[in-house]
Amino acid sequence: MKTLVVQHPLIAAKVTELRDINTTMPRFQALATELVTLLAFEATKNLAVVDTKVVTPVAPTSGKKLAEPIPLIVPILRAGLGMLSGLQQLLPDAEVGFLGVVRNEETLKPAIYADRMPNRLDGRTIFLLDPMLATGGSLISAIEIMLERGAKKVVAITLISAPEGVAAVEQKFANSDVMVVTSALDEKLNEHGYIVPGLGDAGDRLFGAC
Ligand code: PRP
Ligand code: URA
Repeated sequence: MKTLVVQHPLIAAKVTELRDINTTMPRFQALATELVTLLAFEATKNLAVVDTKVVTPVAPTSGKKLAEPIPLIVPILRAGLGMLSGLQQLLPDAEVGFLGVVRNEETLKPAIYADRMPNRLDGRTIFLLDPMLATGGSLISAIEIMLERGAKKVVAITLISAPEGVAAVEQKFANSDVMVVTSALDEKLNEHGYIVPGLGDAGDRLFGAC
């Protein structure tokens, strides 16, 4: 298990704009997309490739292509959907599974309400997308499902993470091939389980309060 907080001037500037209470919904969506593409540079670093041949207009040469099976992308509904197109731009051949997880705002416990995923994930690398890692309950339940179905490796990409959530995920998956790649590690959770300073409710900011 490894956690990587990606340090980069563009990421820092975009996260700051994302946090801003005055950032509009369309701008928030654009920033989430841009951030996931920047984080993907690190998150996809260890993807397996195989040798291939290519013919340029000048000469034949050798190169690389992604090894099969191509990774599976799984946005955690609903807020993770706001990160999907950013990663799909980089992995256009990746299949997409959907997992609906909602946190009970009183108990802070996650509940799975949608599962549109392959039954078996043997040998596959999974990219889980969720902007917020707060208590860690939602991400832990999602990672458990991936590993139970045989996933070889799980890489979770988050935009804002709380130390409490990172610690919970690290403890739970200490001996598993799990990685969290995040653009910000914040200060703490407040008494309502919200990340401080955070950005508020990511789902609401992406799609509206409903
Ligand atoms: C948010 C967020 C995470 C979860 C994080 O989703 O997108 O999935 O909370 O909290 P946790 O780490 O304490 O589990 P929410 O349950 O609000 O659902 P939504 O995406 O439908 O808004
Ligand atoms: N979910 C959110 O959307 N934001 C938080 O700060 C915590 C959980």
